[in-house]
Amino acid sequence: MGYVIRALMQQDEDDCNSLGLVLMLRHLVSSSLRNSAENMSDPDEYSTTDIAGPRTLITNERQRCGEMSERTNEAVEVRAPELTRFTSAHLQQALGLSSELGWPYRLEDWAFAQGLGEGWALEQAGRLIGTAMRWQYGHAFATLGMIIVANASQGRGYGARLFDALLDDAGPQTLLLNSTREGLGLYSRCGFLPIGEVYQHQGVPTPGLSSPELGWVRAAGVCDLPMIDKLDSETVGMPRGRLLQRLAQAGRLSVIVRNGVVTGYAACRRFGRGHVIGPVVAEDVTHAQALIEDAISKLPDTFIRVDISTTPDLGSWLETRGLKRVDTVTAMVRGAPPQPSGNARLFALCSQSLG
Ligand SMILES: CC(C)(COP(=O)(O)OP(=O)(O)OC[C@H]1O[C@@H](n2cnc3c(N)ncnc32)[C@H](O)[C@@H]1OP(=O)(O)O)[C@@H](O)C(=O)NCCC(=O)NCCS
Repeated sequence: MGYVIRALMQQDEDDCNSLGLVLMLRHLVSSSLRNSAENMSDPDEYSTTDIAGPRTLITNERQRCGEMSERTNEAVEVRAPELTRFTSAHLQQALGLSSELGWPYRLEDWAFAQGLGEGWALEQAGRLIGTAMRWQYGHAFATLGMIIVANASQGRGYGARLFDALLDDAGPQTLLLNSTREGLGLYSRCGFLPIGEVYQHQGVPTPGLSSPELGWVRAAGVCDLPMIDKLDSETVGMPRGRLLQRLAQAGRLSVIVRNGVVTGYAACRRFGRGHVIGPVVAEDVTHAQALIEDAISKLPDTFIRVDISTTPDLGSWLETRGLKRVDTVTAMVRGAPPQPSGNARLFALCSQSLG
């Protein structure tokens, strides 16, 4: 097959006016590329030694599949995608990738995530076709997320390539992520194990009843941050001070204080189609509800999202408040999971990516 392609390409170079020949070439190369992507278990079938030179279309590395341009009738080399560090210069195109998937991120949401983490961008001919990010919490823990490959480029090993780069960077520490159904196979093969589920609830809340529990909650001030930080790191078992500082800048923090000690807190900020409430850390579900209700009460007629860990009581209460469960992702870990201490629990995440 490689010889046929090489011969046809040679002819294509010699006689660019032959439209029929060029169309046939397109067909042949497209189907061979499809085969090379689908037939990944046999990557050596199409070897670089068959089709040498600058117009190489297929290599024996599945992540380096070439492509034919769909916009022209000519065989055009499209270079193998290149990995580069994800920077703020990628934000606008990253927004395009997430929008293509129907994910509701705004540019500001990408900037928030990028400002706190680091990651990789996969670019092809100047176009961003994939992203993957890591958020470091101390030296022993990190979360991974924003792992996206453009629809048209999926199934060619690019997701695995991005993920490998993340894993190389991360080293032997404990890694956590929340996986969509599409990501499960990839992450499982890389040693990630399921440890629970995260439920995405959202909607415009129905008007709430004023309850005495609301009186337990007050807005947090700067002076509360050290105690919020302590409560959070005990509860999730990871130091997340930088994240909390950014949350305080980007939105509103509220606390429950008992005997001068912060026993619960919630963050609320603009995100996606409206606002997101999370993290929510509390001693029990009643306190978690009070923190969420307080945040909702400040945002009448606003679209709200809450990503909760597996806590049935809170989920059914959110449903009654008009925040329907719309999706479920799988929480996964590689390495020794963080060890929470103290009495509080993490009821809602900051986001599925940042944990
Ligand atoms: C998940 C995702 C990043 C994988 O990227 P990709 O480039 O298509 O993946 P690869 O070609 O490297 O394949 C990696 C593995 O995932 C599997 N896979 C890819 N897309 C899949 C899908 N839609 N459903 C199920 N499995 C899929 C492949 O079969 C492959 O398995 P293998 O190693 O046994 O061959 C990509 O499908 C994507 O962007 N999905 C939408 C966004 C998303 O859900 N991201 C995960 C967030 S946690």
